[in-house]
Amino acid sequence: MPQVISFGAHIADALGWPFTAVPPGQQLAMLQQIKFTVAGTAAAPAVDLAKLGVDVAAVGRIGDDSIGGFVRTTMAGYGVDVEHLLLDPERQTSASLLPIRADGSRPALHVIGANAGLTEDDVPWDLVAQADVFHLGGAFILPGIDGAPMARILQRVKGLGVTTTVDFLMSPRPDAQELIAPSLPFVDYLLPNVEEAGWLVGTEDRAEIVRWLHAQGVGCTVLTLGGEGVSVARNGSPETVLPAFAVDVVDTTGCGDAFTAGFVSGLLAGLDELAAAERGLACGSLVATGLGSDAGIVDLTQVEEFARTQPRVG
Ligand SMILES: Nc1ncnc2c1ncn2[C@@H]1O[C@H](COP(=O)(O)OP(=O)(O)OP(=O)(O)O)[C@@H](O)[C@H]1O
Ligand SMILES: [Mg+2]
Repeated sequence: MPQVISFGAHIADALGWPFTAVPPGQQLAMLQQIKFTVAGTAAAPAVDLAKLGVDVAAVGRIGDDSIGGFVRTTMAGYGVDVEHLLLDPERQTSASLLPIRADGSRPALHVIGANAGLTEDDVPWDLVAQADVFHLGGAFILPGIDGAPMARILQRVKGLGVTTTVDFLMSPRPDAQELIAPSLPFVDYLLPNVEEAGWLVGTEDRAEIVRWLHAQGVGCTVLTLGGEGVSVARNGSPETVLPAFAVDVVDTTGCGDAFTAGFVSGLLAGLDELAAAERGLACGSLVATGLGSDAGIVDLTQVEEFARTQPRVG
């Protein structure tokens, strides 16, 4: 039985590196590397959790197409339980084109595809009831779930005594607070990056962001800060900022998802929040060393060795 259910966004990424500019007209520009990976706020943590030795089931929707076949077989190849990945007969598999610049930054071109078809009825409750952690990845990019359905799902998960973790995948939008607020009382650990959390709350002031999220009922805010690390704050307590590990950055795609996997695997191992966040940081920083969401992490032994020996930022 899976320890973790990773529910939500499943995306195939096509990444090109190093990207400088779109060539004019029909001209050709040469890249050093193009890579296809499994990504998305549910799928990528599932892959990383499997690499870390955690029994994980992915739940989401893919299209009945070759991209969906790629997502399913790649995830299964890493050891993820893909039995609950549903085929959406009407939509293509969600995908992104990611031209990665030499400094690691990237524009993103995205098709929401089958992620738009995910509904409340797709939750495999028998499996959830047996799990330790339910990760909902992709709030704001799941139109069939966002809002009231998400709150109902998380409330029911909590009622089963299962720990809930939630991450966003968003751009600024005026209805963000209205959509997510009903869900927040049922979130044990909220894991967005600080920029997304700031768009939600409407400020860049981290103390204010944390205060607002705690006032909405979030159990513990875990805001990733890119190269600066992570802010962890249990509701009612001040934040602790832990620095990232210093690495030569190639591409930060999937770093937040890797953080989630490391953090969740730490909780499952009985670590406290800060120790789990340390493992999350190691996973996030490792993924930054290569192209794509699946780069960097080999297994738990390698992650622990990296965390013991790698210098920190700052
Ligand atoms: N430049 C960097 N140097 C070292 N570590 C990094 C860097 N950028 C990200 N990381 C690691 O990855 C973690 C998550 O990064 P970030 O805050 O960028 O997540 P994110 O924006 O949610 O990523 P994504 O949504 O693409 O998965 C950080 O807490 C850190 O451990
Ligand atoms: Mg993220």
